[in-house]
Amino acid sequence: MNTIAFIDLAAQQARIRDRIDRAVAGVLAHGNYILGPEVEELETRLADFCGAKHCITCANGTDALQLVLMAEGVGPGDAVFVPAFTFVATAEIVPLAGATPFFVDVRERDFNMDPASLEAGIAEAERLGLRPRVVVPVDLFGHPADYDGINAIAARYGMTVVADAAQGFGARYKHRRVGALASYTTTSFFPAKPLGCYGDGGAIFTDDPEQAALLRSLRFHGKGSDKYDNIRVGLNSRLDTIQAAILIEKLAIFEDELAARQQVANRYAAALDNIFTVPRVAKDCTSAWAQYTIVAQNREALAAACKAQGVPTAIYYPIPLNRQTGYKKYPAAPGGTPNSEHLAAHVLSLPMHPYLDADTQGRVIEALRNGIGQTTAGVAGA
Ligand SMILES: Cc1ncc(COP(=O)(O)O)c(C=O)c1O
Repeated sequence: MNTIAFIDLAAQQARIRDRIDRAVAGVLAHGNYILGPEVEELETRLADFCGAKHCITCANGTDALQLVLMAEGVGPGDAVFVPAFTFVATAEIVPLAGATPFFVDVRERDFNMDPASLEAGIAEAERLGLRPRVVVPVDLFGHPADYDGINAIAARYGMTVVADAAQGFGARYKHRRVGALASYTTTSFFPAKPLGCYGDGGAIFTDDPEQAALLRSLRFHGKGSDKYDNIRVGLNSRLDTIQAAILIEKLAIFEDELAARQQVANRYAAALDNIFTVPRVAKDCTSAWAQYTIVAQNREALAAACKAQGVPTAIYYPIPLNRQTGYKKYPAAPGGTPNSEHLAAHVLSLPMHPYLDADTQGRVIEALRNGIGQTTAGVAGA
């Protein structure tokens, strides 16, 4: 029995291989490997795609977040609010800036930051003597965060919103694209992301021209008028020209791929809704479907049953960040993060990519149905 792909990057590559080959050959021909013309072209296309005024590409999605904290001058004494249920990069950049990550709970219905927990967290941070500076909502698994709710709270406390759209780039919130819904939006082009390159890559979006110029300096060793004029401390964090050339080709089919992901999600929802808790997309929103994640009892047995039938699954993420060894010393919202705990113990992500055809997806659904039969029988017999 063959094992099906969790994410099938080869199918996508087969579709556009000729164009990718030509794009890479173009870079090899002109030889501008660092900040060549494709980088600027990509930045213009990405900004147009999401409706942001400026796009600044960089080396990866983690650096994108770090560069924004540097541009905002975040440092000691500042609290940066992050969800407890996310990939570690969202929180990792905060201590690197000398600030304090403050963990906020998420909502079970969309896996995203809970504005009520954020508000409680802000009061607690002030009580601890921290200055509420930045909030980082994450579009987990591709579903946009509650931008209206979070922006309103941030405005009341004078905080900056930095949207971590590493998984949500391409999604829409109330008919508007993720990318222009916060003071800054960051994304990742890690290969498995909805819009991924063939290595590491990332980008920042903002409407503020001065901050955009500052970010361009920060990603290039803090350069001033030229690269040997270093007017501030920065990073070496540029997107390779070859990756930009590849991303231009991938962006050209991105809209079509988002529609295909939605079809896959529809098929899962129709087949699994009465068996598991399946993800729901909020009114007037779309998801980029970076992952299709169900909530299931007996997750480990279900995953094992799927594996035995050649169907891979994954657990994103098994431990909330505020329980991680490197992070448990940092504060969390009063009342803790019970939804993050619950999700970390029960989520299971299923194969999801734009090239998952109905027959192959049928195998995933069948494996889950068999799996639930086995686990229920196991429970009944125990
Ligand atoms: C939510 C989130 N934030 C940040 C990142 C970091 O992106 P990168 O791997 O490009 O540094 C990722 C991706 O892995 C992510 O999923």
